[in-house]
Amino acid sequence: MTPILTIIPLLFLVVASIPWLLPHLRTNLRHLLRKPTPQSSQKPSRITSLRVYPIKSCRGFEIQKTKLHMTGLDLDRRWMLVDAESHVFLTIRQIPEMTRIRTGLSDDGEYLLLSVSPTKGGNKGDGGKEIRIPSHPDKSWLEKNTTLATDIEIWDTVTDGYVYNPEIGINQLFSTFLNRSVALVYKGPTPRVLKGNGDPRLLGRVQDTNFPDVHPVLIASEASIDELNGRLKSAGHEGISIERFRPNIIIKGEEGGAWVEDSWKTVRIRSSSSSSGDGKEGGGEGLTFDIVARCGRCQVPNVHPETAEKHRTQPWDTMMKYRRVDEGLKYKPCFGMLGAPRGEGDIRVGMRFEVLEETDRHRYIRGF
Ligand SMILES: *[C@@H]1O[C@H](CO)[C@@H](O)[C@H](O)[C@H]1NC(C)=O
Ligand SMILES: *[C@@H]1O[C@H](CO)[C@@H](O)[C@H](O)[C@H]1NC(C)=O
Repeated sequence: MTPILTIIPLLFLVVASIPWLLPHLRTNLRHLLRKPTPQSSQKPSRITSLRVYPIKSCRGFEIQKTKLHMTGLDLDRRWMLVDAESHVFLTIRQIPEMTRIRTGLSDDGEYLLLSVSPTKGGNKGDGGKEIRIPSHPDKSWLEKNTTLATDIEIWDTVTDGYVYNPEIGINQLFSTFLNRSVALVYKGPTPRVLKGNGDPRLLGRVQDTNFPDVHPVLIASEASIDELNGRLKSAGHEGISIERFRPNIIIKGEEGGAWVEDSWKTVRIRSSSSSSGDGKEGGGEGLTFDIVARCGRCQVPNVHPETAEKHRTQPWDTMMKYRRVDEGLKYKPCFGMLGAPRGEGDIRVGMRFEVLEETDRHRYIRGF
């Protein structure tokens, strides 16, 4: 190919991306001209809980220790449920009952345990039935027991996924429970590249994730849920558990330090003991995350994670009064921060959590 022929498509790409780039250009220029960000003065904290939700929108579980991958915590949102015909994803937003689908891990970590939690006053006959599937299915298992589909829809993207075959029994169990024909899907090999604030042009690298809405990891602080619960209780409502916000990493936070996470820009997790270490668990470098955006919330936190009962107003109404803190999310309250890890390694409860850099420039960009 002659050089000119190579340049034409390139030029076209540059020109085509101008309308998209313009709004960000100003912010980025300001960013570049600014003096280096000062080190954060926030005090180090500690990881108090790790949570994974293997099937998107279904009930997850706590874990003491796991692996952080570039795509998120091991097992987290590797699976999701889709409509059996259209292959469009299902979420707890439309189907609160999904939170009654339980996931767990066998003692040896080899199997994911799936079941449906019975209703309070008796059950519908499938209570107690448990199906096991490999937690890390290998190629040959997937070839035998699933069918790769390339038309899996999640938000406005289409990606691929391994659809579980009827013989596994899992689609039947969930379809009966949800009164509609559904199928379980395991993320396929094609990377689902981050969009919105995680877009390669903003993040500075190409990173992907499995089936969370947009970004690999959600970090939340106990100090903030405590503050929110204080408000709920003084208004005569019940307090809620942090599980309702479906975070992955929960930190304690300083006393009186509610909502300091709003300004996190770079954070790091390290083993608490150490000056030395095995390097993998962050004796030295630790695990660093770019905090890409605040997490705008819908009404999912109004759903009780155990019973699937949805509260008519809370915590939504309370949060709308004081947690609309992001210019890019005018009509949504924020809780928790979305991060993209810069590296991989072991992560466990008790590790030290440090804020390296802060910013006052977070602004949510729609990623779906
Ligand atoms: C799935 O595939 C494996 C082969 O890798 C096979 O042993 C197994 O019986 C298959 N079926 C189920 C229900 O797991
Ligand atoms: C399915 O139908 C049953 C019986 O009509 C009902 O009790 C249950 O709530 C329905 N489940 C869902 C998820 O809509």
